[in-house]
Amino acid sequence: MGTDAILVLDFGGQYCHLIGRRIREKNVYSEVVPFDISPEEIRKIGKEFNVKGIVLSGGPASIYEKNSPKMDKQILGMGLPVLGICYGHQLIADYLKGKVVRAEKKEYGYSTALISNPAGILKGLGKRETVWMSHGDTVADLPENMEVLASTENCPVAAYRHKTAKIFGVQWHPEVVHTKNGMKILDNFIFDICGCNPSWNAEESAGGYIDKLRKEVGNGSAIIGMSGGVDSSAAAVIASKALGEKLTAVFIDTGLMRENEPVMIKAMAQKLKINLLQIEASKTFLDALKGIRDPEEKRKIIGREFVRAFEKEAEKTGAMYLIQGTIYPDRIESGQSKKASVIKTHHNVGGIPTDIKFKGVVEPLRDLYKDEVRKLAIKLGMPKEMVYRQPFPGPGLAVRIMGSIDREKVRIVRKAEAIMSEEVEKTPLEERPWQYFAVLLDTKSTGVKGDSRAYGNVIAIRAVESREAMTANFSKIPYETLERISTRITSEIPEVTRVVYDITNKPPATIEWE
Ligand code: XMP
Repeated sequence: MGTDAILVLDFGGQYCHLIGRRIREKNVYSEVVPFDISPEEIRKIGKEFNVKGIVLSGGPASIYEKNSPKMDKQILGMGLPVLGICYGHQLIADYLKGKVVRAEKKEYGYSTALISNPAGILKGLGKRETVWMSHGDTVADLPENMEVLASTENCPVAAYRHKTAKIFGVQWHPEVVHTKNGMKILDNFIFDICGCNPSWNAEESAGGYIDKLRKEVGNGSAIIGMSGGVDSSAAAVIASKALGEKLTAVFIDTGLMRENEPVMIKAMAQKLKINLLQIEASKTFLDALKGIRDPEEKRKIIGREFVRAFEKEAEKTGAMYLIQGTIYPDRIESGQSKKASVIKTHHNVGGIPTDIKFKGVVEPLRDLYKDEVRKLAIKLGMPKEMVYRQPFPGPGLAVRIMGSIDREKVRIVRKAEAIMSEEVEKTPLEERPWQYFAVLLDTKSTGVKGDSRAYGNVIAIRAVESREAMTANFSKIPYETLERISTRITSEIPEVTRVVYDITNKPPATIEWE
């Protein structure tokens, strides 16, 4: 049988992941893949999933630009239904010999689509629909074998279909909430046109993850690093259910963890019935990071030291596989696909050295977004307070200290972090920001403490709302809370003279500062 899947070709559009998410919300598996994926690679994915259709995302380029992203044309002839959205819509029209022109007026925002033929992807839609547009180029003309389904004032071919093949295009964005009946359009494509069976479910497939991991490791044994975060803990529960005694779980104390973290993790492992080995390695990590200021270098050093520490333990137990709690956004942002840009090297992906001594690295959660991991974790029986723990980056406080790192700086940022958490956590779980933390800046600032001049450190505090960490908005924390945090940080940490609040969204910033 297998699970049905839709592939989303990523042409760099800001809503690309939203398309993937919307499909998954309909219980159909979807994967965002690079725009230059080959038909062979698609067939390879087809060995694991029933690939039932392809969506081409939007993108910022114009098809006329010299280096604009182009897909392998053969994909249109694989017999799979294809839906082009925005840039994808223009690209298909161009490939099939339609006419794409620079629009006189760029359209951005709400528009009204006049549906001339409510068929195919537009089945069930009214004569006039509120849609969300964001484009410069426009399809002006179609070849004989294609027909127009809808238009807008500035766009004569706002939606089309091929007369014989299952190929569709839509200029507006069905995936954003501003397009009122956008989900209906995606439903039509996924279910009516591609014939997908809504059988995929991140949490329902818990058993599947366990079986898959057991198969991957076979007769071998494995080691997993638990950091206490939901990703590595969920991966550890899956691994321990799959491998039992053949799994060694270790917690490596890098010296870059949050306050009380080692004690908490020990208690957490006990609750999960995981036999956890604690390894004190702070000297090794801090020595390796001495004098390093570059964030990417820090991440790579930490990734390397983690793997070296795992290898050392694996030598004792004979573990052949390294299991990691890598999730989907880690892979995307580490630029694992050929064309995507490297936003940052997540320690457990790009930060891994190439000369590892393991037979393989196994990543049971590699295809899931954070909120899906959380649902799965609940299904695996993990307690709520563990599942909704603050995300904490693998490189730990190292990426929350700007510039070089030493024990003193770690102590300051750790204390600031603890104060921030304590104050935010006075509100109920549901009302808290998605993530909140403190950052120690590499700058000094004048202050006045006890009637005398003080020249001390600056702490930036950050709190964001997000669903899956790919995008985030800064939290509108009440001023009273911010004031309490700032007062406590400056009075309880004598070295700090100033606290600032980060009001940047992602994009353009990332969540962490490094
Ligand atoms: P950014 O800073 O990329 O962070 O917007 C997105 C989310 O990922 C966390 N993060 C990491 N998690 N290893 C991890 O396991 C890493 O190297 C890493 N870097 C960032 C970050 O805290 C946020 O939740």
